Amino acid sequence: MREKLGLFICLLYLSGSCYGRFVVEKSSLHVKSPDSLKGVYESAISNFGVPQYGGRMIGTVVYPKANQKACKIFSEFDNSFKSMPGAMPTILLADRGDCFFTLKARYAQEAGAAAILIADNWIEPLLTMDTPEEEHGSAEYVQNISIPSAFIRKTLGDSIKKALSSGEMVIINLDWHESTPHPDKHVQYEFWTNSNDECGPTCDSQMEFVRNFKGVAQILERKGYTQFTPHYITWYCAEPFILSKQCRSQCINYGRYCASDPEQDFSHGNFGKDVVVQNLRQVCLFKVANESGRPWLWWDYVTDFAIRCPMKEKYNKECADRVIKSLGLNLKKIDKCMGDPNADVENPVLKAEQDAQIGKDSRGDVTILPTLVINNRQYRGKLDKGAVLKAICAGFQKTTEPAVCLSADITVNLAMRGNIEVQGQKTLNL
Ligand SMILES: *[C@@H]1O[C@H](CO)[C@@H](O)[C@H](O)[C@H]1NC(C)=O
Ligand SMILES: *[C@@H]1O[C@H](CO)[C@@H](O)[C@H](O)[C@H]1NC(C)=O
Repeated sequence: MREKLGLFICLLYLSGSCYGRFVVEKSSLHVKSPDSLKGVYESAISNFGVPQYGGRMIGTVVYPKANQKACKIFSEFDNSFKSMPGAMPTILLADRGDCFFTLKARYAQEAGAAAILIADNWIEPLLTMDTPEEEHGSAEYVQNISIPSAFIRKTLGDSIKKALSSGEMVIINLDWHESTPHPDKHVQYEFWTNSNDECGPTCDSQMEFVRNFKGVAQILERKGYTQFTPHYITWYCAEPFILSKQCRSQCINYGRYCASDPEQDFSHGNFGKDVVVQNLRQVCLFKVANESGRPWLWWDYVTDFAIRCPMKEKYNKECADRVIKSLGLNLKKIDKCMGDPNADVENPVLKAEQDAQIGKDSRGDVTILPTLVINNRQYRGKLDKGAVLKAICAGFQKTTEPAVCLSADITVNLAMRGNIEVQGQKTLNL
């Protein structure tokens, strides 16, 4: 459940429209059999479900006789994709079209498939499958999707169907090993987030992730395995609108740094500019904590602030300062870092955040909130503690993973999913 940044939120405002460079994150798909199709193909990781970062899954492909777009429930009676004990997992092949990708994944999962491949219905480059907008009331079931999904090109889909229709068995290996670079024994990761707590399921699931992930994030950071940096997206007000009511209530420093109004009401409640100020405080808090050698305090601050200073009540400086003091951080340094939000000057901290939004090298622009970037690649998939930990663990060079990556709860979880190799270690034979 992520918030797409609407038209108002521009990374780069060029000739009257917003521009962003989005990178489609890929995983490899090896066709093992039949011989005529053997080879490595690309597939795209979706923004939902749980990709098995660092792992692989081997399964047999099934293309249903009816309901080929997987837009309806598969009745138990004609289709069960649950694999028999000892058999390979079933990977359902479905066609794109007629309904949301997430709905197809849901029906595949409910019918027992271990993964879903969605074949494009058009010849074009790969795309990242995303969740529907929240107004479609999809939030709940999307959170429940736990199987990985991969998007494939039409040509590959057609070849698989042809092989299946001539009675051949199609076996594929979905491989996420190269989806996270793993150059050395450290992992750098970034979380692009927002201090707004009143945006419905997007904000709720973001906060839930931070709460759930805090413990493990702090262990990794304290022991020096990871280097974590939080980031905040702001947009700027286009020149002609700087004095408009919208920009005055949503921006600080004369239109330079803006965030959407939490209630979309420019006269009442919390304003977009309150969100920017709070975001700025969180960046500065991180900087000060990092300088004092305790960067992990960011996790404590963000979770405590959300509980003690919710938007509905005390989303303000007094409340924030109490939380900062309770963590033993230097308040003066934080205030100094924040500067004067009412001044007609650039704020170097927020300017650096805006610059960092623009992609470099393998990472596209950050255009979705929240976004997680691991070793300079954008993470795709559900923002869930186990799935994210797996992705971070896949970012360590082999044999350098910290103990938490080899812990029972990740391996048990993987063992239950069948034929998956983790860090080169098979948990189930073919
Ligand atoms: C999500 O999964 C839980 C547990 O399997 C189930 O009880 C619940 O009804 C599901 N929710 C939706 C919206 O599918
Ligand atoms: C945090 O501290 C480390 C080590 O001093 C430094 O390399 C890094 O750039 C700092 N990060 C930020 C965002 O200031």
